[in-house]
Amino acid sequence: MSRFLGIGMTHYPLLAGTDEHMAGLLRWTLRDPDIPAGEKDPANWPAAMRAEWGEDEGRSAAAGHRARLLEGLTRCRAALDEFEPDVVVVWGDDQYENFREEVVPPFCVLAYDDLEVPAFEVMNERGSPNAWGLPDDFRVTLHGDAQAARALADGLINDGVDMAYSYRKRAGAHFPHAILNTQLFLDYPDAGARFPYRLLPITVNCYGQHAIARKGGLARFAEIADEKLDPSGPSPARCIAVGRAIARHFAGRDQRVAFVASSSWSHAFLADALWHIRPDTEADERLYRLMVEDRFAELAEVTGREVVESGQHEILNWFCLFGAIQELSLRREWSTLVTTDVFNSNKPFAVYR
Ligand SMILES: [Fe+2]
Repeated sequence: MSRFLGIGMTHYPLLAGTDEHMAGLLRWTLRDPDIPAGEKDPANWPAAMRAEWGEDEGRSAAAGHRARLLEGLTRCRAALDEFEPDVVVVWGDDQYENFREEVVPPFCVLAYDDLEVPAFEVMNERGSPNAWGLPDDFRVTLHGDAQAARALADGLINDGVDMAYSYRKRAGAHFPHAILNTQLFLDYPDAGARFPYRLLPITVNCYGQHAIARKGGLARFAEIADEKLDPSGPSPARCIAVGRAIARHFAGRDQRVAFVASSSWSHAFLADALWHIRPDTEADERLYRLMVEDRFAELAEVTGREVVESGQHEILNWFCLFGAIQELSLRREWSTLVTTDVFNSNKPFAVYR
């Protein structure tokens, strides 16, 4: 008889960097010449945002943000250790990493065995030292389970979900950081080097209309003005249906399976209506309320357009988890929503059993 655990967590790349750089995305955004000066002027920001930004552009507040994220991650890791999973299924977005112009699958099972990958490529690109003081070229091994992944893809296809699969990571691009950072952050004290569990990653095309158009998400307003939108990503309702099917696949097996939704919710750099200055906290708090009140029917009615307008693209990973939770009747044991204005994204955490 299978047993299940559900986890939701962040893969916020700047958590892998130092406090000095944690508000780096906002500092970068404030140099966009096409954002009106009034929007960029801290004097016009909400009081809470001004306080977080402080006198040193968020450098002092970074330690507090990190502490709150580590608190959430520690709870998630403790739940995982208590559960002792045979496999950890992770839903994470691909941000112009494995999937580019050649093909963009709505969902894809990564059927990889153990894979050694550089841990800090994203941080290196952003010019931040890593939080652990390790060499820039530090590598970690992601433990995979290609056989279980192939069986999952096959099971899904026979259950009516036309699932894509990949046997080899794209050369010359970094491993999808949503998956990699899940291991780094669940094993924070060792920067992911001692994570004992096997991952079964499933990428979700969260970036949808911006997958190719914004090549990973960061864009200046001048570039957005004439951007050619890509086809939409999967709808929230479809993510729920796929999450349910994935749960069904494992329900018939004698395995202990942990499901992890890996992502923050609204991202400032995707919230066009807020000039990329801060995340859409109101929208996140609304969906968080639906989540904690188990109002899944209302969550299923959220549209892809609403998600994109609020810069919540990556929440689709969580919709997959919502599907699995409903299919398996898991109960929420604990959750929290860490909000912020200056550190790019609001970050929820959750444990379901
Ligand atoms: Fe992401």
